Amino acid sequence: MAEKWVLMVTAQTPTNIAVIKYWGKRDENLILPINDSISVTLDPQHLCTTTSVAVSPAFTHDRMWLNGKEISLSGGRYQNCLRELRARASDVEDEEKGIKIAKKDWEKLHVHIASYNNFPTAAGLASSAAGFACLVFSLAKLMNVKEDHSKLSAIARQGSGSACRSLYGGFVKWIMGKEENGSDSIAVQLADEKHWGDLVIIIAVVSSRQKETSSTSGMRETVETSMLIEHRAKEVVPRRIIQMEEAIKDHDFPSFSRLACSDSNQFHAVCLDTSPPIFYMNDTSHRIISCIEKWNRFEGTPQVAYTFDAGPNAVLIAHNRNAAKLLLQRLLFYFPPQSDTDLSSYVIGDKSILEDAGVHNMKDIEALAAPPEVKDNTPAQKYKGDVSYFICTRPGKGPVLLNDETKALLNAETGLPN
Ligand code: DP6
Repeated sequence: MAEKWVLMVTAQTPTNIAVIKYWGKRDENLILPINDSISVTLDPQHLCTTTSVAVSPAFTHDRMWLNGKEISLSGGRYQNCLRELRARASDVEDEEKGIKIAKKDWEKLHVHIASYNNFPTAAGLASSAAGFACLVFSLAKLMNVKEDHSKLSAIARQGSGSACRSLYGGFVKWIMGKEENGSDSIAVQLADEKHWGDLVIIIAVVSSRQKETSSTSGMRETVETSMLIEHRAKEVVPRRIIQMEEAIKDHDFPSFSRLACSDSNQFHAVCLDTSPPIFYMNDTSHRIISCIEKWNRFEGTPQVAYTFDAGPNAVLIAHNRNAAKLLLQRLLFYFPPQSDTDLSSYVIGDKSILEDAGVHNMKDIEALAAPPEVKDNTPAQKYKGDVSYFICTRPGKGPVLLNDETKALLNAETGLPN
């Protein structure tokens, strides 16, 4: 084996938003949940992780860089993923580069991993889901792991539970499984991203000063102290999973919306039922819920669904482009940007929704009329600066390999970050 070569793979993996939530584990080490969950994969064009992984006989230990900064791989979750992948690695041959790696060599060879999120990690947008999914997907390609996506999802799950759902595009179910070793706790695709292509997703990144409880410790405390969580996991979620699968299959937006909103609200209710109580949503989150609830009721049928993860950000799923346009007008009416903010950085992602909304500059925002569901005699209050920015996106595809070498995050000769 020549000593100088570096073999590298780069991949891109989406993030996902649960519409029936995962909250609570029955096994902390294997990351086995107490209920099934369902998610929508978000378009990687707007929210994704890119990861390059490389192997070389010159590497002395496994190393990882996240957004350019070296981080430790000593944590149990990274170690579990690396061990599971190495155990399934196969022979690799690159004739062009004259590289040959035998199955047994993988136990001794070290890897370098560089990962980058195309969205602010600090914004609380489920970066661990896309991150672990991408790490597992790219290493599996590098190591020639011949397992299908479902088997890979069971490995990604051991990095972060929600990561298993990022191995597929569209609509995804994480089946909790029954086996003690977790072999049947896997993700499956319910429908691809084209199945319900009309949906538009707007994320309100809500300004927050508060340091949040991590999902991992939050759900542990809930399982230890909440009386409601058992009822949720045993009685409520199993029924909702069946109904949600049906709603997705039939493009039944009213049912989809009612289920997603109720499940988000129940997840936050079990957080409140935890001792000490966990507050993930803040006043801005509550105002967004009120705005959607009022509008949906005014229309007589749901236009938009809302869902919130372990933080104050709102993920709003609009029935179609027209509902998305009306939603963005409402959001910009209630939550205008600070006067020194640039509109192009206030609404990011798919900017065509902004065009549909007829908003081209700050003056257009000031000119937005109060929504008709607001009673004429009560002047609507505005909350300038309470939202940091909005991301317009849609359901998206699953992981992909990036063959364009200019997208690589590691240097092809040294295997160090570019
Ligand atoms: C509220 O997957 O981040 O987003 O498995 O401990 O890493 P760990 O937790 P994580 O929890 C996600 C919780 C959630 C709901 C969901 O995505 O289903």
